[in-house]
Amino acid sequence: KETGAGVIAVDGPAGAGKSTVARRLAAELGFLYLDTGAMYRALALKALHEGVDLRDEAALASLLSDTTIDLYPAPEGRVRVIVDGADVTDHLRSPEVNASVALVAGFASVRSEMVSRQRDMARQGAVVMDGRDIGTFVLPDAEVKFFLTASLEARSERRCQELTRLGYDVSLERIREEIQHRDLLDSSRPYAPLAMAEDAVLIDTTHMEVNEVVARMLAICRHRLG
Ligand code: DC
Repeated sequence: KETGAGVIAVDGPAGAGKSTVARRLAAELGFLYLDTGAMYRALALKALHEGVDLRDEAALASLLSDTTIDLYPAPEGRVRVIVDGADVTDHLRSPEVNASVALVAGFASVRSEMVSRQRDMARQGAVVMDGRDIGTFVLPDAEVKFFLTASLEARSERRCQELTRLGYDVSLERIREEIQHRDLLDSSRPYAPLAMAEDAVLIDTTHMEVNEVVARMLAICRHRLG
């Protein structure tokens, strides 16, 4: 068995609201929240810093083998991302990382190492893990699996608001294009693409408030976990 007691998988495309609701769900259940996208972002950030060619799979895999990525719980269910001992949390959502992360996440050798680290983390205890391939590949035995979606327009608007809040100067048009491009890369890669698990609960969040989504997920979790 790949998992500890109480494992919840949350998958879906960029901007569907996964991290917001997964974090809240974890806080409500007293589970640890693990953001796997942050791990791919952390590697992309380090590669950008070190000038590693983002198309060079072997170089990226070797960089990863020399990199520690720790996810630490922070107040309000947030996560601090510590790479080689340094806190990089505030740099993971930059436009440069956004533009390169899907490339990094597309390589099989990078993914297999990340997946093995993620499975180790899930063995530590009760977790809510969010990503693209959690229910289908990383934790196929998860007790509850959710797949969140929303219209491209809603997802672009949310990302735009998030980035504006973080102080980036962004255009909705550009973000829509980026999300569309990233969706395409994430769902068309040959190795563990973004896909909904057969036994996942699908939630379309286009017209839902965060509270509503969390409440629905919580009810399903309580029912399933007993
Ligand atoms: O959820 P996010 O936007 O932080 O994800 C960043 C990128 O990493 C995105 O392009 C998809 C990819 N990713 C992935 O391939 N597998 C995961 N489990 C999580 C993220």
